[in-house]
Amino acid sequence: MSLNSCAWKAPSNIALVKYWGKHGRQLPMNPSISFTLNSCATSMEMMWTAGSGKVYLSFAGQKAQKFEDKIHAFLHSIIDLFPFIPHYDFYIKSENSFPHSAGIASSASSMAALSLCLCTMAQTIEDFPAVGSDSFYQLANFVARLGSGSACRSIYGGAVLWGECPVEGSSNTHALPFKKLHSNFTNYQDTILVVDNNEKSVSSRVGHSLMNGHVFSQSRYHQAHHNILKTLDALSLGDLNMMGELAEEEALTLHAMMMTSHPSYILMKANTLIAIDEIRKFRKESALPLYFTLDAGPNLHLLYPESIKIEVNKLIDSKLSTLCMQDAIYDSVGCGPEKLA
Ligand code: PMV
Repeated sequence: MSLNSCAWKAPSNIALVKYWGKHGRQLPMNPSISFTLNSCATSMEMMWTAGSGKVYLSFAGQKAQKFEDKIHAFLHSIIDLFPFIPHYDFYIKSENSFPHSAGIASSASSMAALSLCLCTMAQTIEDFPAVGSDSFYQLANFVARLGSGSACRSIYGGAVLWGECPVEGSSNTHALPFKKLHSNFTNYQDTILVVDNNEKSVSSRVGHSLMNGHVFSQSRYHQAHHNILKTLDALSLGDLNMMGELAEEEALTLHAMMMTSHPSYILMKANTLIAIDEIRKFRKESALPLYFTLDAGPNLHLLYPESIKIEVNKLIDSKLSTLCMQDAIYDSVGCGPEKLA
């Protein structure tokens, strides 16, 4: 690794209270909170030389024109923050630890990794906070937010809050690590059931925009403000059931917004609903705290404490795996990004 390079590994995250609807320069219409994942992550190496703002990207060892164009557009959209960008060329190698289109937010982990690399580069060029300092992470999550809103929550480990709410320090421009996470959530599990791995028909970008003028938007934003406070309570009290009920309500509301937008669309599949039924049946019969959430797609995230892993695995093997297109992805709450070089 030369002086003109750095590498970061940044995790993905799964929202408990969903960010859905935005305004201005990537500002959320409501606060959201997520768990940072442990093993689903992007590893990115960035090298830079004097140049004219060109970007060369290899993704998993292959040229990836679509991602290269996206990164190029992003870098050129933040020249106001990093005026040096047009004077360098960027050589980026990126890879994900999880399969593409598996229902795991790759934009969150990749934009988080890119922002951490950029902020590390900035430190070698201009006056910039030291890598690893609080201000460094604050700037990195500000930048990540501009790349993909939810990416700002991937800059910290544990549970991460983004958006103004009655919590000191909360902000629409920065994410904030939630410091009072109860030990019941240590090693909390997120197992992803890949019901369908085809590219989704409507992007999140379009989904966010359909919240403008949506007939239920104001009630949704009101509900999210209410749910964030209840979720923060559940996370600090260690109340697995309260947190799980809220996560399910949020997941289904997210999809209800899609189904009632204009035009309307449905991202869940028949097997998503069958799996939800099985999860709820299992919970009723066993009284064990297994819950689900959904991202903007058909795949289910099973949320549960490590102590019931054996029972959940039996359920996956006996009832859920036949509803999936590929093996489940086992993950858990993680501690945030890691500087690799
Ligand atoms: O960060 P974006 O613009 O890809 O939006 C993500 C929105 C959801 O993943 C559906 C919810 C969330 O809060 O992560």
